[in-house]
Amino acid sequence: MRAPENFFANLNQSLKTHECAFPCLVVDLDALDHNISLIKASQTRGFDVRLVAKSLPCPSLIDYITKATGITRIMSFHLPFLCQLIENFPEMDFLLGKPMPTSALKRFNAWRKADAPQNFVPQDQLHWLIDSQNRLDQYAGFAEQSREPLSICLEIDIGLHRGGFSPNKAFENAIKQIQSHPYLKLSGLMGYEAHLAKIPEAFGIKQHFRQRSRRIYQQCRSIISGQGMEPEGLILNSGGSQTFTEFESQETENELAIGSALLKPSDFDLNSLKNFQPACWIATPVLKEQSSQLPGASTISALLKATGIIGNHAGFIYGGNWQAQPVYPQSMQRMRPFGFSSNQECYTFKQGDYPKVDDFVFFRPKQSEALLLQFGNIAAYRSGQIKNWWPVLGYPQSLYSVQP
Ligand SMILES: Cc1ncc(COP(=O)(O)O)c(C=O)c1O
Repeated sequence: MRAPENFFANLNQSLKTHECAFPCLVVDLDALDHNISLIKASQTRGFDVRLVAKSLPCPSLIDYITKATGITRIMSFHLPFLCQLIENFPEMDFLLGKPMPTSALKRFNAWRKADAPQNFVPQDQLHWLIDSQNRLDQYAGFAEQSREPLSICLEIDIGLHRGGFSPNKAFENAIKQIQSHPYLKLSGLMGYEAHLAKIPEAFGIKQHFRQRSRRIYQQCRSIISGQGMEPEGLILNSGGSQTFTEFESQETENELAIGSALLKPSDFDLNSLKNFQPACWIATPVLKEQSSQLPGASTISALLKATGIIGNHAGFIYGGNWQAQPVYPQSMQRMRPFGFSSNQECYTFKQGDYPKVDDFVFFRPKQSEALLLQFGNIAAYRSGQIKNWWPVLGYPQSLYSVQP
């Protein structure tokens, strides 16, 4: 999937006008708006949407999306980022996407007392994820000792086999333990089913596994009902960018997690997301150019050029070695014999497609999660103009200075 030809030419011009001096991550706000409109359509199917912050690790980006969609729920996977997100969005509801060691709980608690916004109420707005009896006992112990009420969401295994409870006696006992505990409250369930995206549709195989996931989720719901609780009032989270389009009714789940789809890095080039547009790019200047030449192999270089195996022209770019594919200029290809370089990676270009020194070349990230964090502030770009430079999430000093 390619953005239009003049998109990159205009972006190149914009970055030069802004004297952008090093590799940067660009978010295309026009494409993002398009993706947001599709997400809004899915919200109208009746599901609540929880924004997956790890895939959009930039407070201004999250602010932009939540304002445009009305989303008030965030899923966080990293303690330092969680604290920063709470500072930025103290009115939002937070669900942890993975279970944390109790040391995270202790550090969070110390940070909260010292630094969290006054209007943030953890027992109502922060749901810790618990995957096992052992973890539950640890959290119960912490809550008793600290007399801190904790809101608990249970991770259930609906087929991904990445940990979590199954609908059995142990799960029922965990529910009972939470119900009878003076400081614990059950806020919901989280069952992730990314494996379904990899299963082929053919012969109803995918449908079979989807029904199986639903059945497991439904069994967990029934166990909760059996303990006298109304599951409707709980968070019943599932889905992710790879599967959220496949949920139709809220009979089982009531909340879908979505992150990466909004930027659509290339790992998300899936049929289910075919209407979404790529909205994030890496831009970096070409520092040097020369005729393609392999080190110490001039005859072979000439042969490879003559046979078109490598382009005529080579450019050394500022940086490199990213989890990303070169996309513009179109003939751009990594010069394999030079290997990967995080400093100055070498690319070849074909006749008529050469960038000039100091021109920007472009890559499409494979994923947003790690890539967005590698370039400093993000360039928020719309129709030929960089509108803003958005800082990404980092590591608040306050989290290190507190004494748990
Ligand atoms: C628990 C959970 N929910 C949802 C997601 C989906 O995130 P995304 O929408 O960015 O693919 C993930 C991704 O790892 C996850 O671990």
